[in-house]
Amino acid sequence: MSNEADAEAEESQPESEESAESAGNVGSASSGGSATPIGVKLGSTRTVIALPSETGAGLRTIQTLTCLAEYEDPLTGETKYLYGEEAATEYPDKVQYMLRSGLPEDEDRAELTKQFFNSVIDSHDIPEDSVVVYAVPTINNPAGIENLREVIEQSDIGNRLIESYPESLCGAIPAVGNELEAVEEIFVALNLGSTNLEASAYRRGEQLSPFRTGAVTGNEVDRAIANYVEEETQGRVNIDTNTAREYKEQHADFDEFEPFTDIIQQPGGGRHEFTIEWSVMEAVDEYLDDVVEEFANTFLSQLANDHMKVYQLALDQPIVLTGGMACIPGIVEEFEERASEELGREINAIAPDRADLAATIGAQRIAAQLAETQ
Ligand SMILES: Nc1ncnc2c1ncn2[C@@H]1O[C@H](COP(=O)(O)OP(=O)(O)O)[C@@H](O)[C@H]1O
Ligand SMILES: [Mg+2]
Repeated sequence: MSNEADAEAEESQPESEESAESAGNVGSASSGGSATPIGVKLGSTRTVIALPSETGAGLRTIQTLTCLAEYEDPLTGETKYLYGEEAATEYPDKVQYMLRSGLPEDEDRAELTKQFFNSVIDSHDIPEDSVVVYAVPTINNPAGIENLREVIEQSDIGNRLIESYPESLCGAIPAVGNELEAVEEIFVALNLGSTNLEASAYRRGEQLSPFRTGAVTGNEVDRAIANYVEEETQGRVNIDTNTAREYKEQHADFDEFEPFTDIIQQPGGGRHEFTIEWSVMEAVDEYLDDVVEEFANTFLSQLANDHMKVYQLALDQPIVLTGGMACIPGIVEEFEERASEELGREINAIAPDRADLAATIGAQRIAAQLAETQ
């Protein structure tokens, strides 16, 4: 089973020369100096941060699991914190995913989120003198939103300016163009996340008819995979949902899925090797059917009701698939086919190159623009 480390990458993103230039040259005359434009997504599965790379060309992205484990220093008795992949693998018994539901639900989880976020900021030297744009989910939960706002405002970064924009708008930005074209267009975005399926129309950046359901989610796929694996192995193999998520992320593929093998250590000693033929694809196949169903029959009818003209204009444009589940190879074509059939008309779709990073990259582009015009 894999054990991913915090990933940090120098992305050679298709940053335009103009925005690369503005990134190295921001800040207004009155405030002096230049503030770093930063994009942040505090996601329920992973947190992603994007900022200009030190060389000035492209972006540096930091990606880590959104989880925290508390332990006691054996010498001083002090409470210490570990976050991300290390926390998940070393303290599976204690690790907390404080944004499991998408937002910090209560004071305790808000505190943990602050602790987590500040640890990430510290260990990666994210500059305080910065303009920060947060990509935030569309969830109708005032208390949770308020808690998230508190985490954001009390963090060490964003001394110049802090703004937030809908996650699916941010995620659509790198899919639609090399700059901020998405903010000038009319389109529908469908965000395939771990805890929610979200859909909205956007009209020059304005969010219309936001729709969300917690019934069709990446987490639900993980649970289904865990159940199917038990069935497929005649009860010999039980995996946890974290392992199921890893199977999904590494093997789900609508173009060319290959059966794969894994090994479990049995409690009494001994190893058991098994092969997964159908569990992963069965789960993602059902997921995609549910996505198409919610999109076509619930969201689109709501949009047609609320904004008939926008509905018509948006369906002539490609539907933008965002969120981590849009990473699955072949999902865009498969969505097009099933949605076209469901709606009885041709539906086109697109997704950003790295759907798991896209919301943060889009937020970073907005931050660069705000830093310039501030
Ligand atoms: N490469 C991948 N292949 C398949 N699923 C992925 C991949 N990367 C991330 N995911 C899934 O996407 C979901 C996370 O989506 P994301 O939009 O980042 O989440 P959220 O906003 O809900 O925190 C999780 O279910 C995760 O397992
Ligand atoms: Mg999300």
